[in-house]
Amino acid sequence: MNEYAFVLGSNWLLSIAELLVYVQDRGFKATLVDHSRHIAILDIKDKLDNEQVVEMQAALGGCYKVSRVLHRYDSDTVRNAFPTAGQPQREDREALIKFPWLSKVWQNPKGKKIRFGLSTYPEFDGKSPIQYRRFARTMDEKIKSTLIQKGARKADYFAYDKPDKRVAERMNLALWPKSIAQNNLLIPPNSEILAAFTHKHLYFARTLVVYDSALQQYRDESRPYISSKISTSPKICRTLLTLAGARPGDTILDPFCGTGTILMEAAMLGMKVIGIDIDGNQVQGTRSNLIWFGKDLGQQVDFEIIRGDARDLSNLVNRQVDAVAFEPSLGPIYSGKPEWEDAENNIRDLTELYREVLKHIGQILRPDGRVAMTIPVIVTKDGPISVDIREMIKGTGLGFFKLLPAGIIKSRSEGDKRFRINPGRDILPERKRGQVVQRALIALEK
Ligand SMILES: C[S@@+](CC[C@H](N)C(=O)[O-])C[C@H]1O[C@@H](n2cnc3c(N)ncnc32)[C@H](O)[C@@H]1O
Repeated sequence: MNEYAFVLGSNWLLSIAELLVYVQDRGFKATLVDHSRHIAILDIKDKLDNEQVVEMQAALGGCYKVSRVLHRYDSDTVRNAFPTAGQPQREDREALIKFPWLSKVWQNPKGKKIRFGLSTYPEFDGKSPIQYRRFARTMDEKIKSTLIQKGARKADYFAYDKPDKRVAERMNLALWPKSIAQNNLLIPPNSEILAAFTHKHLYFARTLVVYDSALQQYRDESRPYISSKISTSPKICRTLLTLAGARPGDTILDPFCGTGTILMEAAMLGMKVIGIDIDGNQVQGTRSNLIWFGKDLGQQVDFEIIRGDARDLSNLVNRQVDAVAFEPSLGPIYSGKPEWEDAENNIRDLTELYREVLKHIGQILRPDGRVAMTIPVIVTKDGPISVDIREMIKGTGLGFFKLLPAGIIKSRSEGDKRFRINPGRDILPERKRGQVVQRALIALEK
């Protein structure tokens, strides 16, 4: 068994799509064997080396942790051992605290000072027949006492079980990547262990690498030019790059580059970048960001930023590009939900703009290259309205790229409709509660 657990971003389906597209593009023989709204379990035929794991974590916008699966239980065992109602079953509790996986993490704990953390990921947030908090604390205590029994000089666990900062009534049983880094939990003999629940199983896994939130925050806040009104989140930028099939060494185009967030993320991943924007301030801003970024990285960033209209793209860029990733202009900023007719007119204009730009992209994109973009979904007084994507790609020479590759989805949790994945989808929503202009992501191929 070569199973890996990936902790997903808040948009679980989009995170799974990104992960599957990534492994498929890299030629890993991988299958999605289980998932929840927090975790994807992938069986990967060849064991990943360190470099591959680090590269994967750096590239994926919708991934917080990559971990190696150590052991699997039926979740019935946990349901019986830590029920919210009724008596706990002793044999099931004992089966769990035998820790058959422990020696895979700590071969020889003798004399060592060990600090560990256990992060519990329920199958989804909401009511459950399992008492997760009691489960988590029992695991903490029992791992600690087992390590001491096996001769560890000291064993301490790091637990964070305060309410989730974002949703006050929800308990947070998982450690943030930042706490893991601050407490050196990935440096042996320390370790972070995941207890990840899916519909029918519990996976124990050992974390190999986590999202570098400090580096991301630094890049975001220290760059010379930023505009909170238009800048795309760096996580979405990386997801777009993955969906576009962008690889280190490739030449990437963003025809609506704004403040250059996609281009910075691409440069970080070792790509050459070309940006276009109609607004001179954005062009200047992106240039200063990339110059700053190059100095900060201590290496030359290969970039070209052009002021111009993306509808004239193939005349502005006279070389072939390997991938295109962008967040185009999404139309007006609404102060409240608009009338349907108002939004419909704007959507019509935007569809026209996107089609024209995509036609040009079709001309300079590498023959097997891909495009990933966001499109607006406007929430009107009478419901949401969006671009007709079939209409949008007419005459562009581009077709839909399947975001959820059907052949590699064989999840043990697919039987439950809350977790069902429909591989036929051409579009994935990226919803932000309360926003009038929501977004969706699509990918196209030549
Ligand atoms: C949503 S913003 C892009 C944000 C960008 N991804 C970032 O992180 O800053 C859209 C950008 O498209 C530019 N734009 C609008 N119409 C354009 C056109 N026809 N050609 C090129 N750029 C255009 C705007 O000036 C704006 O900077």
